[in-house]
Amino acid sequence: MSEIHAQREQLQELTQAALPEIEAATNLKDLDAVRVKYMGRSGLVTEVSKVMKDLSNEARPQLGQLMNDFRNSFTQVFDAKKEELEEAALQEQLASEAIDVTLPGRKPTIGARHIITQTMEEIEDLFIGMGYQIIEGPEVELDLYNFEMMNLPQNHPARDMQDSFYIDSEVLLRTHTSPVQARTMLAHNFEEGPLKMISPGKVFRRDNDDATHSHQFHQIEGLVVDKKITLADLKGTLLVFAQQLFGEDQEIRLRPSYFPFTEPSVEVDVSCFNCGGDGCSVCSRTGWIEILGAGIVHPKVLEMANIDATKYSGMAFGLGPDRVAMLKYAVEDIRHFYQNDLRFTRQFQGGQN
Ligand code: PHE
Repeated sequence: MSEIHAQREQLQELTQAALPEIEAATNLKDLDAVRVKYMGRSGLVTEVSKVMKDLSNEARPQLGQLMNDFRNSFTQVFDAKKEELEEAALQEQLASEAIDVTLPGRKPTIGARHIITQTMEEIEDLFIGMGYQIIEGPEVELDLYNFEMMNLPQNHPARDMQDSFYIDSEVLLRTHTSPVQARTMLAHNFEEGPLKMISPGKVFRRDNDDATHSHQFHQIEGLVVDKKITLADLKGTLLVFAQQLFGEDQEIRLRPSYFPFTEPSVEVDVSCFNCGGDGCSVCSRTGWIEILGAGIVHPKVLEMANIDATKYSGMAFGLGPDRVAMLKYAVEDIRHFYQNDLRFTRQFQGGQN
């Protein structure tokens, strides 16, 4: 009988036992347990090899060969099974992480721009179309620009019309957008051409709030400075503005008024868009609605901004988008704009997203 007869039989038995065990493994963990059981450091095959050192020189390589055969057939079956199980695990993971693209999407809630913002942007677009630049100024402003350079010196009675929120004696929340006129004129280089700007923004006044007054509201300032600017330019511009905003057959009316920074000064009315001028409740039966103050820039205002008033003249206007929006959308109380009541604001969501 051969010297390694017993080992040969053992290895045959192990082969017969191991291969079905590999096949039976249903996951990678069980499979690895089979590997440890047979091929591990103290596994069954290692046990068989322990006789090696007592074998004769001829028998030793024979056993070595048998062991290799076992390892080869074990590894072949094992690797194939491992690949199969890894593939299955991957498929399972892919299936569990799959995104069902056929599910209907969740619609995100998208807000809408506030009706005042929409109105301001509409007005901005309109003036951009006429070649105006948009220039913004600070809301916390120097008395110098808000009043002094607008020809409203200390103790001028007209300051009372615009009593404000002062931060200190020099600094206040601007009462109108007119200070941007002074800032822009000082910065403008007339050698590069005329100055045409509008300045939209928030303004503040210590008014008692009521249906047509809010302590915070909006203005859009307009200023053109060039040679030979006259009241006719102002009227023509404002007529185009009113017709584009309220409709082709709009008319406007200029009434004499007073502002310290313009001379002459006018208040501008548009014919009532509701009744077409016949008189109704919207226009207090006058047929006209006031929407802005305007005038020819006072020479003193030009001079304070280092502009030669003998060569240049200017026109300026200040309009109230809150007022425009109230009229355009028949909003009866200005405070609706600032109360954040969704029932109100949602009415102006329109087609925008
Ligand atoms: N600043 C003025 C106001 O707030 C409006 C205005 C601007 C009038 C420009 C004339 C010229 O009442």
